[in-house]
Amino acid sequence: MAKVELTVNGRRVSGDVEDRTLLVQFLRENLNLTGTHVGCDTSQCGACVVHIDGKAVKSCTMLAAQASGSEIKTIEGLAAGGALHPVQEAFKAHHGLQCGFCTPGMIMAATAMIEEHGGQLDEATVRAELEGNICRCTGYHNIVKAILAAAEQMNGAAKVAAE
Ligand code: FES
Ligand code: FES
Repeated sequence: MAKVELTVNGRRVSGDVEDRTLLVQFLRENLNLTGTHVGCDTSQCGACVVHIDGKAVKSCTMLAAQASGSEIKTIEGLAAGGALHPVQEAFKAHHGLQCGFCTPGMIMAATAMIEEHGGQLDEATVRAELEGNICRCTGYHNIVKAILAAAEQMNGAAKVAAE
């Protein structure tokens, strides 16, 4: 057994798990944070992406015990004060989802991407960085549009705040 201690969406959590428990299992089964999805068993789909210490990571590729001590953010931690995150709003406004299964992973990948690239994010970069996230429904076009729109909005807001 392994002891896992994490900060998840700002809350300190801990648990004793079998050594083989994946981070995604710990989030879904121990913490009931089922917004993080499992879409494959080959680490290809990206439905399980969360932020670990600010970086987008497929939570099926890591043991819960390996993540111990980290700060994790899941899709449940993105909206603040009852308002959707700008990336969530943009997916809604630009029809970036259909069945929604890939959406939590897409949105977590997108938010990390926007934070990393700031105002430099362009379509080619979005498409290249979404390589690890599979969507069976949308054809990706509206997802890319949504991410670029959110990036523009977030960078505009950051610029205004800095002025
Ligand atoms: Fe498919 Fe993690 S569940 S990449
Ligand atoms: Fe259905 Fe992406 S919206 S898999």
